[in-house]
Amino acid sequence: MPQTVLVTGGAGYIGSHAVKGLQASGYNVIVLDNLVYGHREIIEEVLQAKLIKGDISDRALLDNLFASHQIDAVMHFAAYIFVGESVENPAKYYRNNVVGTLTLLEAMVAAGIKNLVFSSTCATYGPPQQIPLTEDHPQFPISPYGMTKLMVEKMLADFDSAYGLKSVCFRYFNAAGADPSGKQGEDHNPETHLIPLVLLAALGKRSAISIFGTDYPTPDGTCIRDYIHVSDLAQAHILGVQYLLEQGESAAFNLGNGNGFSVKEVIETAKQVTGRDFKVELRDRRPGDPAVLVGSSEKAQKVLGWQPQYSSLETMIDHAWQWHQQRHC
Ligand code: UFG
Repeated sequence: MPQTVLVTGGAGYIGSHAVKGLQASGYNVIVLDNLVYGHREIIEEVLQAKLIKGDISDRALLDNLFASHQIDAVMHFAAYIFVGESVENPAKYYRNNVVGTLTLLEAMVAAGIKNLVFSSTCATYGPPQQIPLTEDHPQFPISPYGMTKLMVEKMLADFDSAYGLKSVCFRYFNAAGADPSGKQGEDHNPETHLIPLVLLAALGKRSAISIFGTDYPTPDGTCIRDYIHVSDLAQAHILGVQYLLEQGESAAFNLGNGNGFSVKEVIETAKQVTGRDFKVELRDRRPGDPAVLVGSSEKAQKVLGWQPQYSSLETMIDHAWQWHQQRHC
């Protein structure tokens, strides 16, 4: 009998790619998504998985779901992700990302479900003290968003000690790209991430792309980030769930490429990949952006056997471009 994984937030960007990966690996998948930001059609039409519309804060729904399905593990993507919004409206983030997750964990404990793969973030580290960041780097997040993710990591450690709930926390760097099929991709509303905004400029859907800060202590003065293909992230989640189902101990892993690319490099690469030119505007720094964020993912490679397949920036941008073109055609 195939094992069943509940994917919260499975109709979102990274969650939906994980659903595809789980299906390809033979798992039975149930998606729980409140569809506030998720996309019903990705689950029901493209991936043809079972979708339950509902919220992780709805304890009665969770109890019912766990009573009526044999769930072997949960992948928990459902969270709000906008760093700027989390500064302006922290209550929304603590309510959903922390209290909602606590409800989910309590329901899992009550139902005897012992395995959770959690979407965490490099934003839990705060300003880097050394590059590349490793998992033992101190965690002092500077945004409420990062703090909500760190609080869940702490809850998970305590839930393991007290209730034996095992977890894998994946600290993502900058998720990028799209499924190579071109049928799934990044569709945030509002969109704040660099690569999709650059591609919308290439498509003429935006008049220009802004570079937030050109006076950083980096070779070209713009911020450097570690972009990681979303399908590689998805693959790590499959390995994470397998690790837990094979009785692995709770652990946290960085998921990144180990390579940094500057904002200017991303824009130049996008111009090459798309063959389009577009206006670039130089702006002031965006508050809260560290100059360089690059992670070491050696631990995930060693412990889980994870090997990113799509490490080149060209490939990530090309896959994202295929998706944006078919979406806007
Ligand atoms: N940037 C621009 N112009 C834009 C958008 C972004 O110059 O229009 C720059 C940003 O200033 C930053 C880089 O491009 O230097 C990447 O920005 P993104 O918004 O794409 O990604 P972030 O690095 O800010 O955010 C990512 C994840 C978050 C996570 C954060 C941790 O998307 O979920 O890393 O710092 F919290």
